[in-house]
Amino acid sequence: MSIFFPSNDFKREANLQEQQYTRLINQFNNNPDEFWAELAEKIFWHEKFTRVFNYVDKPFFEWFKGGKTNISYNCIDRHLKTKSDKPALIFETESGYKSSLSYQELFTEVNLCANLLKKIGVKKGDAVTIYMPMCPEAIIAMQACLRIGAVHSVVFGGFSAKALRERIIDLDSHYVITADFLYRRGKSIALLDTVYKACEGLASIKRILCWKREVKSVLDSGTLDWRQEITSVEAYCEPEWLDSEDPSFILYTSGSTGKPKGILHTTAGYLIWTHITSYWVFDLKDTDVYWCTADIGWITGHSYVAYGPLSNAATVFIYEGAPDYPSASRFWEMIEKYKITIFYTAPTAIRAFMQWGDEYVTKHDLSSLRLLGTVGEPINPVAWEWFYKTIGKELCPVVDTWWQTETGGIMITTLPGVNAMKPGLVGLPLPGVELSITNKNVLYLNKPLPSMVRNIYGNKERYINSYWKEQRYLAGDSASQDEDSYIKIGGRIDDVINISGHRLGTAEIESALVAHKLVVEAAVVAVPHELKGQAVVAFVVISDYGIEDEQKHIEQELSQQIIAEIGSIAKPERIIVVPALPKTRSGKIMRRLLKDIAGGIEPSGDLSTLEDKSVLDKLRTLI
Ligand code: WT7
Repeated sequence: MSIFFPSNDFKREANLQEQQYTRLINQFNNNPDEFWAELAEKIFWHEKFTRVFNYVDKPFFEWFKGGKTNISYNCIDRHLKTKSDKPALIFETESGYKSSLSYQELFTEVNLCANLLKKIGVKKGDAVTIYMPMCPEAIIAMQACLRIGAVHSVVFGGFSAKALRERIIDLDSHYVITADFLYRRGKSIALLDTVYKACEGLASIKRILCWKREVKSVLDSGTLDWRQEITSVEAYCEPEWLDSEDPSFILYTSGSTGKPKGILHTTAGYLIWTHITSYWVFDLKDTDVYWCTADIGWITGHSYVAYGPLSNAATVFIYEGAPDYPSASRFWEMIEKYKITIFYTAPTAIRAFMQWGDEYVTKHDLSSLRLLGTVGEPINPVAWEWFYKTIGKELCPVVDTWWQTETGGIMITTLPGVNAMKPGLVGLPLPGVELSITNKNVLYLNKPLPSMVRNIYGNKERYINSYWKEQRYLAGDSASQDEDSYIKIGGRIDDVINISGHRLGTAEIESALVAHKLVVEAAVVAVPHELKGQAVVAFVVISDYGIEDEQKHIEQELSQQIIAEIGSIAKPERIIVVPALPKTRSGKIMRRLLKDIAGGIEPSGDLSTLEDKSVLDKLRTLI
């Protein structure tokens, strides 16, 4: 297996170096409370905490109790004395529109938005749904919520009205912040109209706030024009000093059952860990221009776009658009133009860049890059090496970072100035992280961490059952370790699938399918996919099976159904109409057989529990 080492130059200059790393590991092993208390010193506290960690009612726990702080203050106000003119956000859209906000300007915008939220009635603890494009206003809205102690729930702009509605209802959110349009692949995609559709008949909705990007857009009465409204609010908004354990945000993610889980994060622990991991793993320096390609709709866009890097006073570049529009060199163009130094993206994107061809890359000067990162799904060694060589010119360490919506921040990786890199292996747990892997390759985190999920909104039982049934945190992934303890992530062990780094539940897609009037039953499996990592194959039983023409038609209709219920990210690679699904005698769908068939291989393993063997014979004809 290949192994790569960070250069001596990189090691010498790294934020976290060998000696310090060893000290941290030792300190954590000998005195974890002291370790955490020392890390906690890195943020600004309005009031110091009195206790590092305690269980309230196991498995419920608290970190840094007694302390008061504010995430937005830490991301913005704290830097104003020395960095007020430094660019905080640099923005470009697909069509080439550019803008930039200094820390001072970001402060101004966040304060105005915070005061506007107050004016429309948002109070500490209130839920605010944010359904926005990847633009500065999205980050301003998020920061404004946390400034006043409101709890945001960002819903990815690619989710459908139905999916948005479901998330608004689950949270009983009274406020929605949106924009009229999102721009992608040369098209304007209506967001405000989707919000109207999602909120139809919902009495709980008190106000919709819209960032108008097009003059011609017309707002319904009851919808407020953000840009116009901020002309009449005060310039300064005192940050709300929140308890360490006050909620910061909720982010919905897929689980094994149909309904998405509202992952609840809190304040101080989340801030400390995203702050310190941004510093350690991305090695953020004052001169860096940092670009993470994740949308704010995912946890990566929270922790490593909207919060962690800003809390380090970094310059964050954000881009709204697709990587291959108008051409496959769109990303490299911007890296050259903005002299991006740190580039964090997903393996799916890397595989696509590889496939599009090196010519799009080599015509650009990428010499500003000094560190590369990947996240979201396992990266195959071929893609890793391509990233390292063709993008990084063998000069930039590549950090493959393993974490989850639930962990809030990076848990396993290699530290760029300390550890050697092995393509395909994520690396080692960061200082502070203790994990175990069972002999059945199940990955656990041994102890609660400051940045971890505190609850599933409104569903305490599901929280306990999903994560803490066995006293340790069940990650939901399989993993193994090599002779140097380097961890290799296998994949999910539950019914969660990962398409292009996006997390989806098979149950969610199945319930979208059975919502169609002709569908009697549906089973969804994931198959390996060269580009996307995994792809969805759906097997459906319909009520009038047999007429071939209609089958083609219904496949299209069902695709549309999934797009309407969830969004295009969930669109299956194939929808196969079958006469029946293979089941056990007790009536359970035998998904592993379907998985084999979808993957084009002869079903293996024990078939003795199969109720009706003829079902399988019919399915075999599909291979
Ligand atoms: C799942 C979490 C963390 C932000 C994006 C995804 C998979 C994540 C890696 C990696 C292999 C990875 C896991 C995990 N995953 N990072 N570096 N190597 N797999 O967050 O949507 O909560 O998904 O993504 O399966 O459980 P998420």
